[in-house]
Amino acid sequence: MRLIHTVEELRSELSVSKSAGKKVGFVPTMGALHQGHLALVNRSVAENEVTVVSIFVNPTQFNDKSDLENYPRTLEADVQLLQPLGVDIVFNPLVGEVYPEPDTRVFDFSPIDSVMEGYYRPGHFNGVCQVVSKLFDMVQPHRAYFGEKDFQQLAVIRAMVNRLNYPVQIIGCPIVREPDGLAMSSRNQRLSTEDREIALKISHTLFKSCIFAESNGVAETVNFVEGSIISQPGLTLEYFSIVDGDMLQPVKSWEEASRIIGCIAVFCGGVRLIDNIKYKEA
Ligand code: PAF
Repeated sequence: MRLIHTVEELRSELSVSKSAGKKVGFVPTMGALHQGHLALVNRSVAENEVTVVSIFVNPTQFNDKSDLENYPRTLEADVQLLQPLGVDIVFNPLVGEVYPEPDTRVFDFSPIDSVMEGYYRPGHFNGVCQVVSKLFDMVQPHRAYFGEKDFQQLAVIRAMVNRLNYPVQIIGCPIVREPDGLAMSSRNQRLSTEDREIALKISHTLFKSCIFAESNGVAETVNFVEGSIISQPGLTLEYFSIVDGDMLQPVKSWEEASRIIGCIAVFCGGVRLIDNIKYKEA
């Protein structure tokens, strides 16, 4: 496994594999790796001859400066976690390497990117598209792997790849949860023991809402989830929306779309957590 910091080195390392016709899988990350990331990596290693993992905390996707400053950076531990998995290249560029000059490109995949995370974190998806498009240009992977915990991000990236004709297959991988149900996230590291216990209410409420939804409508299910989160001291609900799985627009009935998902964002002890649950799959 090689740890590479520059685009030049990355390109020369990959050109050998590419001219040998090898398939390249790519897992973009911001580091602070957990089992959710490792599941993406394992899948890429299983499906491709070469796997590249990027570790880059992308400043352009943070609309909150203190969130960027507090984002965990654990490169040494990350490299150790990746070592036994069969990864070929870890790409860890400096900000100036990715952005030699400010990226002024504007991406607009409305309405997919204007609801939920797009509404509450203005500019976030623009930053995600800026960095992912640059990383795709640098790595030129055949396949790229993203977690479904960031369900909206996955939809935005699919839209970008479609719009820009990137020759890359986007593969969404299921949420990985802790044994007690908490969706794995790099941000979980910032939860105190007490807050982590409180945060469990988020996934538990989503699980219960699936059963509730079997005999209730969409509006009742929204009320059920909102009520449960709001009544839990220590949690502050930002949004909960039940949307169709493609354009991510709110639905009014379970019949309205073939894929329906509930997406939630909640603050717990100053940490912003997101999660989602599938009510209906095609
Ligand atoms: O999901 C993430 O960790 C980031 O948004 C990504 C895709 C690596 C882009 O910085």
